[in-house]
Amino acid sequence: MQKDNQTQRAFGPFVLSLEEIHPHLLNPNLKETDVVRLIHEMSTKFTVKRDQIADYVQDDDHVSAYASLYLPTNIPKLHFLLNKLPDEVLNDLSSRPFIDVGCGPGTFSLGWSLLFEKTPSEVIAVDTSRKMLEQTTKMLKGFFPDVKLRTESKYHQKNTDSVLFFGHSINEMGTYKAQDLIMSIDPEYVIWIEPGTSELFKELKKLRANVLEHYDVLYPCPNATACPSEWCHQVLRTGHELDVERLSQLASLDRKILPMAAHIYRKKRAQPLSNDATTIRYINETKFSFEYEVCYLENGVNTNAVIEIQKKQLSKAQEKAFKNADVGEKISFSVEKIVQNKLRVRLEEEK
Ligand SMILES: C[S@@+](CC[C@H](N)C(=O)[O-])C[C@H]1O[C@@H](n2cnc3c(N)ncnc32)[C@H](O)[C@@H]1O
Repeated sequence: MQKDNQTQRAFGPFVLSLEEIHPHLLNPNLKETDVVRLIHEMSTKFTVKRDQIADYVQDDDHVSAYASLYLPTNIPKLHFLLNKLPDEVLNDLSSRPFIDVGCGPGTFSLGWSLLFEKTPSEVIAVDTSRKMLEQTTKMLKGFFPDVKLRTESKYHQKNTDSVLFFGHSINEMGTYKAQDLIMSIDPEYVIWIEPGTSELFKELKKLRANVLEHYDVLYPCPNATACPSEWCHQVLRTGHELDVERLSQLASLDRKILPMAAHIYRKKRAQPLSNDATTIRYINETKFSFEYEVCYLENGVNTNAVIEIQKKQLSKAQEKAFKNADVGEKISFSVEKIVQNKLRVRLEEEK
C-alpha cells in the first residue's frame, strides 16, 4: 500500500496491490489465467450482454475475479472525489455511518476506511448478492478486523446521520430505486460514483434534479440550479501497482483513464452553497493555450462555456500540471475578454 506524496492532499491516494488483496479473496487460489478469462467474460456482460449482467455476482470465482481488478482500480476514483472537498466536510464525513449500496466486494467501504485511516462508526454494506456480501465481510475484516460491519440484502431504514453511497450500482438498480432509497433513508449526504457514459448521465441528471429538492450539491456543480449539460462527467488519469497493471493488460482493459460521473450532495442548509467552476471536458492544447469546457456560475445559474487559459500566465509547473490534468478539477477564474465565443480567462486562487 503506497501513499504518493506528490499528489497527497487531505490523504491518500492508496494504491492497493493484488498481493495485498489476494489473501482476502473468496477464492485466493484462483489462477491468473482464470481471473483473466472471467474478467473478459464479465466486461462483455457490462457492455454488450447486459441482460446477463447479474451472473458475475453469483459464485466465488467470479466475485474474486471482479475484486482482483475492479476493487484496486475503482478506489482511486473515491480519492479523486474526496479531494475536491474542503476539510470541514471531510471531517464531518469521516465520523458518520457509511451505507454502501451495491457494495460489491467492498470496494468503497474499504476505500473509505483506507482513505480516512479509520473505519466509519458503522459500515452498512448492502448488496442483493449474498456472495458479494460474503466477499465484503472477508475483505473489510481482513484489512480492519475491528470494523463495525452490518451486511444487508435490502436496507430502507431511516438513518438521517448517514452517508448514503452508490458505487456503480445506480447503473444496475436504476434511478427509481436509487431515489426511493434516498427518500426512505433520508441521509445527511448522498454520494455516487457511477460510469461516465452519456446514456447514464441522462438518467443521473433527472435524479439530480429530484435530489436537489432537499440537498445542496457539493461537487461537481457550481450550485443547485438546473444542469445545462448534455453529458457532464469526469475523467481521472491514474496509475496502479505493477501487478494490477499487468492484470489489466492481460484482460485488455484500460484502467488508467477512468471516466466517471461522481457527485456529492449534502442536506440543504440555511446558507445556499456556491462553488468555483469545474472543468467538464478537455478540448485542446495549442502552442499558446489550453482549452476546456467548464461549468460555472453566471448570474447565479450553472452555465457551460469554453474557456481559454493562456500559457503565458502559467508557471512551468502549472503548465505541466495542465498537460496531465484530470477532467473534473475545480478552478477559479475571472473573464478577461470573449474571443470567438470563448472566454479568455485569468486563473485565480481557489476560494
Ligand atoms: C458493478 S458492481 C459495483 C460494486 C462496487 N460498488 C464497485 O464499484 O466496485 C454493482 C453491484 O450492485 C449490486 N446491485 C445491483 N442491484 C442492486 C440492488 N437493487 N440493491 C443492492 N445491490 C444491487 C450488484 O449485486 C453488484 O454487486
